[in-house]
Amino acid sequence: MDIRTVNTQPFPDQKPGTSGLRKKVPAFQQPHYLENFVQSIFDSIAAPQNATLALGGDGRYYNREAIQIILKMAAANGFGKVLVGQGGILSTPAASCVIRKYQTYGGIILSASHNPGGPDGDFGIKYNSSNGGPATETVTETIFAKSKTISTYRILDAADVALDATGNFTLGDMQVEVIDPVSDYAELMESLFDFAAIRSLLAGGFRIKFDAMHAVNGPYAKEILERRLGAATGSVINAVPLEDFGGGHPDPNLTYAHELVEICYGENAPDFGAASDGDGDRNMILGKRFFVTPSDSLALLAANATLAPGYKQGLAGIARSMPTSAAADRVAQALNIPCYETPTGWKFFGNLLDAGKVTLCGEESFGTGSSHVREKDGLWAVLFWLNIVAARKQSVESIVSEHWAKYGRNFYSRYDYEGLPTEAAQGVMQHLKDNFAKLDGAQFGKYSVKFCDDFSYTDPVDGSVSKGQGVRIIFTDGSRIIFRLSGTGTEGATLRVYLEAYEADVSRHHLDAQVALAELIGIALQISELKSRTGREQPTVIT
Ligand code: G1P
Ligand code: ZN
Repeated sequence: MDIRTVNTQPFPDQKPGTSGLRKKVPAFQQPHYLENFVQSIFDSIAAPQNATLALGGDGRYYNREAIQIILKMAAANGFGKVLVGQGGILSTPAASCVIRKYQTYGGIILSASHNPGGPDGDFGIKYNSSNGGPATETVTETIFAKSKTISTYRILDAADVALDATGNFTLGDMQVEVIDPVSDYAELMESLFDFAAIRSLLAGGFRIKFDAMHAVNGPYAKEILERRLGAATGSVINAVPLEDFGGGHPDPNLTYAHELVEICYGENAPDFGAASDGDGDRNMILGKRFFVTPSDSLALLAANATLAPGYKQGLAGIARSMPTSAAADRVAQALNIPCYETPTGWKFFGNLLDAGKVTLCGEESFGTGSSHVREKDGLWAVLFWLNIVAARKQSVESIVSEHWAKYGRNFYSRYDYEGLPTEAAQGVMQHLKDNFAKLDGAQFGKYSVKFCDDFSYTDPVDGSVSKGQGVRIIFTDGSRIIFRLSGTGTEGATLRVYLEAYEADVSRHHLDAQVALAELIGIALQISELKSRTGREQPTVIT
C-alpha cells in the first residue's frame, strides 16, 4: 500500500456550525482544506482498526472529487470498508438509514443542504455517529480542536474508484462497496407506511406533484412515488439531480419552490404538492391552494400518527426546536405525552430519540422526522401525509382546519435578514440582551411581556448544557418573538426573527398569517432596532 503522510498547516476556520462544516466551494478547493478536516474527523472519532464507514452526498458540485479524496484517506487511516452510494450519492436521511441498517461505525455526509451549489456555490461535510445522527457537540468541538493543531494527514496514492455502477472494489487494504442509494431507504419507507392505501388513493384520481428541485431526492421520489406507489409519470418534477441544482436555490419554501407553488395555486391545481431540499431532509407540504406551515405539519403528524402502520403503537413523546411553534405542545398535552424544547439543529434530537423519550421531532425550518433514522427526512414526511390523507379521505386543507378547530391555531412566520454585516447582526442581539430588564413585564399594545431570556438547554439524557441559543420574548398569552443568528450561513450573518401568535377563535383561523402577526412584527422591529442597526427595510426571505 502506498500511503503518503502529507505535511499541512491548520486552517483557522474549520468550526462546524449548526450542521457540519459549510463553506464556499473555492474554500474547499484550497490545497489540503478538505483533507485537513477529514483527518481531524478521523483523529477525533477513535474508530477501531477495520471499521466500516458510510459515505455519500447530495451530488452537488465537488461531491465526486471529495468522495474520491475521502475514500483514499479512509483507506490510509485503517478503515476496513466504506459503503458509498452509487455516483457518490446518498440523501441525508438515506445515509442515516444506511449507517443504522448496516451498523457502520459512522458516516460522512457531503452536503450544504438547502444552500445553492455550483463552482461558486456552497459545499459542506459532516460526520454522523453510529446512531445515524449528526455528531454531538462534544465530537464537533473535538474535530474543531484537532483542525487547529493538525500538521499531517494520511492519504493513499491510488487511482479513483469507479462509482457509477454498484459493486465491490478494493482500495489498498480497504473494501469499497458501491451500493444502490435508494433501495434500503425505500424498503424502510415501505415498512412504516400503508403503501397499499396510498396506492389506491393515487389510483382513485388523487393528483400529486413533488418538486425535487434538481436535488438529491429526484431518484428517491421517482422510485417511491411513481414506481412503487403508482403516481402518474411526471408527478415528480425537476427530478434529475444537477451539480448546481439547475441554478436554483434548493430550499423547499414558498419563495424558492415557486415553480411548485405556482402549480399548486394555479388552475387545475393538484390535490397535494410537496418539495424537498438539496440533500433531501427538508420538506414543504401543500394542499390545493393551501400551505401547511412546518410547525403545523409536526403537530398534524403527531395528532394523526397512529394512522400509519409504523406508528400505530402511539408516540413516546415529541420534540421541537425552540423557535418552532408550540402547536405540537398542544397535541402532546392532549395525548398526555412529553414535549421537549431543544435548541435549533437536528443534533439535539439524537439523545432524546436514542433514549426512547420521543418518536417524532421537528423544526420550523421545514424539517420533520422520527425515530426511524436520526436525521430529518423530507420524503418520509410526504409519505406520512399521503398515508394520513389516504386514511382520512379528506383534503389537506380540511384536515388542517379541523386540527385548528380542535387545538387552536398558532399563527407563525419567520423573517430572515440574510448577508448582514456580522457586527450589525451581533449588535441587534446584544441590544436585545442589554434590554432584558427593561422588557420584562413591558406592555406593547395588547401584548405584555411575561419574560425574556437567552435560551439555554440542558440535555435531559447526558446533562450537557448548550447556552446562547436565541433570544426569547415570551408574552403572557403564549405569543412569542424569537431572535437568533443563523449557524449555517457562509456569507456575513443571517438574523432570523420568529413570530408566533396563538388564536383560539375559529372565526379568525382563516386569516392570513402576515395579517394576524402584523402587530407582533411591529413590536419585534421596535424592540430590536433592527432597521436602524442593519439598514434593512425588509427581510430577504419570509417563510
Ligand atoms: C437552519 C435551520 C435549522 C436547521 C439547520 C439545518 O439553521 O434554522 O432549523 O436545523 O438549518 O438544516 P440556522 O441557519 O438557523 O442555524
Ligand atoms: Zn437539508
